[in-house]
Amino acid sequence: QLSEHCCFSLLSRRISNSQFHSYVRGSSVGNISIVDVSPCPSQPCVLHKGQTYKVNVTFTSKAASQTSKAVVHGVLAKLPIPFPIPNNDGCKSGIVCPIKKDQKYNYINALPVKSDYPSIKLLVQWELKDDAGQDFFCWKIPVRISD
Ligand SMILES: *[C@@H]1O[C@H](CO)[C@@H](O)[C@H](O)[C@H]1NC(C)=O
Ligand SMILES: *[C@@H]1O[C@H](CO)[C@@H](O)[C@H](O)[C@H]1NC(C)=O
Repeated sequence: QLSEHCCFSLLSRRISNSQFHSYVRGSSVGNISIVDVSPCPSQPCVLHKGQTYKVNVTFTSKAASQTSKAVVHGVLAKLPIPFPIPNNDGCKSGIVCPIKKDQKYNYINALPVKSDYPSIKLLVQWELKDDAGQDFFCWKIPVRISD
């Protein structure tokens, strides 16, 4: 289930080479402080085929949860397409579960860009959901897939 409404674009507030500072919106059960996609020296992030990019999201939970599950989409002309990641279990991505309320976490994962992906521009949208399917975080960034 895609929750487009909760998602915000990280276009505007870049705080360093790869880090984006974001703000909360919607009824998510978390609060993002930093989204770090690297390497991404300029915007949109150019993702080279065959390479793997590091994702590090710093967020604070606003609810407890036993589980956490990542849902990643490529959004092309507003059409969300599932974007496969090797491990969608947030509890195996730098987060010690169960997730406690009001605790700061670093979600660490990788975004592999397969060599058979088309060379297109799109948005990558990344959500992390709690037991109830609510978003701990939801962000999207513009990327360009390139050779
Ligand atoms: C989210 O985090 C920001 C910055 O850390 C803070 O100012 C804000 O109050 C937080 N919002 C909620 C709803 O916790
Ligand atoms: C993730 O980002 C946070 C905040 O910038 C940083 O303190 C932490 O060391 C990073 N973790 C990894 C594994 O890169």
